[in-house]
Amino acid sequence: MTIQESSRARSAEGDDSAASGLGALEAVVGPTRSVVVADVAQEIADLVRERPEAILGLATGGTMVELYAELVRLHRDEGLDLSRVTTFNLDEYLGLDEGDANTFRSFMEEHLFEPAELDRARTNFPDSTRAATDPLAASREYEDAIAAAGGIDLQLLGLGRNGHIGFNEPGSLRESRTRVLTLAARTREDATGTFGALADVPTAAITVGVATILEARRVCILAFGERKAEVVLRTVTGDVGPEVPSTFLRGHADAVLHVDTAAASQLFGR
Ligand code: F6R
Repeated sequence: MTIQESSRARSAEGDDSAASGLGALEAVVGPTRSVVVADVAQEIADLVRERPEAILGLATGGTMVELYAELVRLHRDEGLDLSRVTTFNLDEYLGLDEGDANTFRSFMEEHLFEPAELDRARTNFPDSTRAATDPLAASREYEDAIAAAGGIDLQLLGLGRNGHIGFNEPGSLRESRTRVLTLAARTREDATGTFGALADVPTAAITVGVATILEARRVCILAFGERKAEVVLRTVTGDVGPEVPSTFLRGHADAVLHVDTAAASQLFGR
């Protein structure tokens, strides 16, 4: 069961969100990560059962591991059929060899595509190889592919500690589209654990833009643990703007932030 501490988290300055034309971001706090994950996985399962050819926007990263494991469990134990969904991942590093264990495609293969038996012909990533030589064409092609599929039904998002969504680092505009950019120092530091050494972490990536994300019909943002508490607070109550790109989610009509109590620890009781 989800504890809905406050269905609508308050803006720091009270009700100024309405005046600025921005809705508040709904924050749902679950008692544990597993409860949050079960809720979000159930929403995805309900969508796919109702619409087997749903278009899903997917994220990678530690936050998603347990969620994908739950989807795999639903596939194995409860017959959830993901073979007809189309997926678009948010981003991909530049400069890694195809098949490198640190590519986001490898991550998705391991955690979801292979164990949940997705149709690989329906899985999409921005083309990081092409992006290295022709970033504009690679970016345009990805935007076109998402549009041709009919847009994203449900977009999953994690939160970078600096407020990035996808790899829309601080400075990213609300109007930004798929593009190649350099990764923030903090983002590269956070990826060091996966790569082993900071020097091995790519310096650039291709990511869908903030505007691309905001066009998804529904957005589910997940954040877990104490280390995300500050960015959760800033996302929900800080000034909306490029300094913390996740704040732009407050302009989305159907976005929900799912957090555990640790990630919500700075949010409530203020
Ligand atoms: C990953 C992505 C990133 C992550 C974010 C959180 O595809 O786009 O925005 O969602 O960096 O990463 P974790 O979950 O590892 O804390």
